[in-house]
Amino acid sequence: MKISVIGTGYVGLVTGATLADIGHEVMCVDVDVQKVEQMKQAISPIYEPGLGDLMARNIAAKRLNFTSDPQSGFKEAEVIYIAVGTPENEDGSANLTYIEQAAKDIADHIENDIVIVVKSTVPVGTNHKIKQLVEAAVKGRARIAVVSNPEFLKEGSAIQDTFYGDRIVIGSDDEPSARIVEAINEPFGVPVFHTDTRSAEMIKYASNAFLATKISFINEISNICELVGANVENVAAGMGMDSRIGHQFLKAGIGYGGSCFPKDTEALIQIAGNVNYEFELLKGVVNVNRKQQLLLIEKLNACVDSLAGKRVAVLGLAFKPKTDDMRQAASLLIIEELLKQGAEVVTFDPVATEKAKALLNPSIVYANSLEAAVEGSDAALIVTEWDEIKNADLNVFAGMKRPLVIDGRNCFGLEMVKSHAIEYHSIGRPAIF
Ligand code: UGA
Repeated sequence: MKISVIGTGYVGLVTGATLADIGHEVMCVDVDVQKVEQMKQAISPIYEPGLGDLMARNIAAKRLNFTSDPQSGFKEAEVIYIAVGTPENEDGSANLTYIEQAAKDIADHIENDIVIVVKSTVPVGTNHKIKQLVEAAVKGRARIAVVSNPEFLKEGSAIQDTFYGDRIVIGSDDEPSARIVEAINEPFGVPVFHTDTRSAEMIKYASNAFLATKISFINEISNICELVGANVENVAAGMGMDSRIGHQFLKAGIGYGGSCFPKDTEALIQIAGNVNYEFELLKGVVNVNRKQQLLLIEKLNACVDSLAGKRVAVLGLAFKPKTDDMRQAASLLIIEELLKQGAEVVTFDPVATEKAKALLNPSIVYANSLEAAVEGSDAALIVTEWDEIKNADLNVFAGMKRPLVIDGRNCFGLEMVKSHAIEYHSIGRPAIF
């Protein structure tokens, strides 16, 4: 099919490249002219394993194209995907400016009947509003159908998640259009779940909120484990063996970050609030996460008299490994607090350094290796579980001024740590001195 995709962020670009890979003719439309020029050369604007190769292969096969001109971008489209961002407003609600602009662009430029597929995470009722907006603007020139098709990919494994996803949700009140979207996705071989539009919109928020709840739950359990002398990893392993609970998303740490969970949990609280429902459980999940993100500072303060003039190595900056995404990364809050308390901060991240430079205080030192970051430091905080950190030889910490390691991602086994001369504090596990 001839498909256009509006927006080339994580969701849009991965959607475009994977749809091209299964044989569709895809045109990605983005307002950013410079980014479009880069993408035409198969240069991915984001760090995502495998994406550059996928782009190159499909550009060469002439199935994947890019343009900043909506007119030519939509001219031949039979189906248009909307994959623009829905950032957070100050009150936590989803900002729909880009969605509305996309709807307007579609209405201005289409000539034939069209199926609009909404990939962006949007509040319940938005698909319906998009249909009304476009219909009002095209004034009967073309028939408009809108299908909700929320995205469940994770950054860092986006391509794998698309080809081997657990489900594809298709929400529509228009049966023939739902079937078109099913046919488009058929080559992925992923199970399809058909439902009504509003339920599809809700599935996306409810799924992210549930996963965030699992994380905050295990983080609270980990805090209690520390107080009662249990080990959260053993607890999570034992819980996860119950197939009703499952092993995934029970890794205790310093809370969830990224562009989705923090924004979508706040938005769902707002969606409920708009219909006078107080989502108490989810409010608790968000509060627990806020506290958890600063847990490493609390642990550090318990180990030192003052941070003034101390050199602290922050290991990992991205909100999780295999991405350079710094959105809502715990490192941002942690570094801000370290600086506030007078510490000198040296960091190491194998991928996210360039993105971090644009966001962090200019006083931060960026080391090229884990060794260089920790050498001469008074403490090391592990923030992101990169392989480069998890697989490090623990002897590297011997070069520190004080070998104090506070690990927010439980990167090292306790038995292994015991055979090294380091003081080690982690999450929900006994400290080692
Ligand atoms: C998340 C969802 O997992 C995707 O299904 C969804 O499509 C996406 O949001 C989205 O809405 O676009 P993502 O934010 O890329 O994906 O990353 P995750 O792997 O879910 O991690 C989110 C955060 O939770 C990270 O900060 C991670 O460190 C943390 N996390 C995850 C934990 O602390 N413990 C865990 O057990 C799992």
